[in-house]
Amino acid sequence: MKALIFPFICVILLCGVLPSHAEVRRYKFELRNTSYSRLCSNKTILTINGQFPGPTIYARKGDLVIVDVYNLADHNITIHWHGVKLPRYPWSDGPEYVTQCPIRPGTKFTQRVVLSDEEGTLWWHAHSEWSRATVLGALVVLPQKRDDYPFPKPHAEVPIILGEWWKSDVQQVMEEFLRTGGDPNVSDAFLINGQPGDLYPCSRQDTFKVTVEYGKTYLFRMVNAVMNNIMFFEIANHNLTVVGSDGSYTKPINSNYITISPGQTIDFLLEANQNPSQYYIAAKVYARAGFVDNTTTTGIIEYAGNYTPPSSLILPTFPRVNDTLASVTFTNQLRSLANKRYPVDVPLNITDKLLFAISINTRPCPTESPCAGPSDNRLLASVNNITLVLPKEAILQAYYKHIGGVYEADFPDNPPFRYNYTEDTVPGLLWTPENGTDVNVLEYNSTVELVFQGTNIAGGVDHPMHLHGYSFYVVGSGFGNFNRSRDPLNYNLVDPPLMETIAVPRNGWTAIRFRADNPGVWFMHCHFERHVSWGMGMTFIVKNGKGPNAKMLPPPPDMPKC
Ligand code: C2O
Ligand code: CU
Repeated sequence: MKALIFPFICVILLCGVLPSHAEVRRYKFELRNTSYSRLCSNKTILTINGQFPGPTIYARKGDLVIVDVYNLADHNITIHWHGVKLPRYPWSDGPEYVTQCPIRPGTKFTQRVVLSDEEGTLWWHAHSEWSRATVLGALVVLPQKRDDYPFPKPHAEVPIILGEWWKSDVQQVMEEFLRTGGDPNVSDAFLINGQPGDLYPCSRQDTFKVTVEYGKTYLFRMVNAVMNNIMFFEIANHNLTVVGSDGSYTKPINSNYITISPGQTIDFLLEANQNPSQYYIAAKVYARAGFVDNTTTTGIIEYAGNYTPPSSLILPTFPRVNDTLASVTFTNQLRSLANKRYPVDVPLNITDKLLFAISINTRPCPTESPCAGPSDNRLLASVNNITLVLPKEAILQAYYKHIGGVYEADFPDNPPFRYNYTEDTVPGLLWTPENGTDVNVLEYNSTVELVFQGTNIAGGVDHPMHLHGYSFYVVGSGFGNFNRSRDPLNYNLVDPPLMETIAVPRNGWTAIRFRADNPGVWFMHCHFERHVSWGMGMTFIVKNGKGPNAKMLPPPPDMPKC
């Protein structure tokens, strides 16, 4: 069977774009209802292959990964390869109703995950409703066989997936807050590799442990798969050396803490250089006040050898929960390697200057309906004052087949009105966005500068913004309102980090640049699940260019139907 399928796929799709060293790797994903017990209670969750977190995909740079996704559960699903650019092939990208309709129970979809220049840690997750809470896993892209890491070879690698756990069914948590218009219920625990750790009830056994040998160096591949929180991460008594983020390498950063946004990945080296003993690995929330679970998830690093284990472990001292400066200071240290082997290619002549205001908003509750938001309002969110409403058909199909009435191609390049975005009290007039399914159309090869401007409507928070189909250079960020004449003078155009998720600081802005050289339909959204559920997302269509290598590839025969 395999032998038959490979040449077939090759002919119709991808052999032309696969580099010659590439290998084809095949994985089978079965979505199942799985019973799972955490925090003294049992529930049924969606998993891939019965595993939580799900299976890790391993590949080398430039490989083709083919994943056969079988839906054996009772719930619709889509799967997204977070941080994989899928050159000219948005068909496998996954966001529900943007690039595809869901895979229905009892059906199968074969996804072709085309790796290109990504190298490092990425991940995959469900991209339909709130299923990604339990349907997720790491995607490790190793260097090509003949290549090394740009740092000394680690003794071993350790995946760290941060997660979030509700004792109740996440589907119900989602339905409830969308029905009432309030905030979702705060979760019951954070997780390290699926385990809450010994500070939560009934969780002493459910603690992630890793053994290290004194004198050795370990590569930790960390993914923040938490639903609604940016996290601080530390290992007691140890400094960490960050060497990568979002599937590309960074200049080494030595730090005792890490800030990591949902969607983001951080690779760091840990040198086991302390007295042989046991030490906490720990993570907790960074957030402004409100909607905060101030608990700590823990794991344990255990040195090999003979010693008396300590009777109790000491937690690392974290920055304060609302320490925006600590959060931003870490993130602002990230830098590309920017050397001969890993050059930087940041666009310098910009053809498209975009300013997107990203807001939490409110709207009066309809009479007689439940109303759990602030002062008789529902909470919602917007980009340039448009609250995303997902269509019933996928935008990608509508674009490819010229089906009208699914979306409008008029997403604005700028906020519809200018105001003091970050003043403490924004005028009420600006509080109510419009619903829409609008796309912003980019010409092939245009050079884009996109400035995300946070607003203080309904209270400012950080927003981890994520773009599909691309990595982008983060060229600047700051507090207050973006100033077009002053702020670009301080851009880093020398060694900006190459990311696909970036936390826009509360009360502030972040500027990114990318070349629109990947034709297709690409979702852009806040990676806080509650914010995207409230409508903080939009879609780019990047048009085909001239030659045959600048055009979208045709769809696979088994695209799920709506
Ligand atoms: Cu990690 Cu649109 O997602
Ligand atoms: Cu957000």
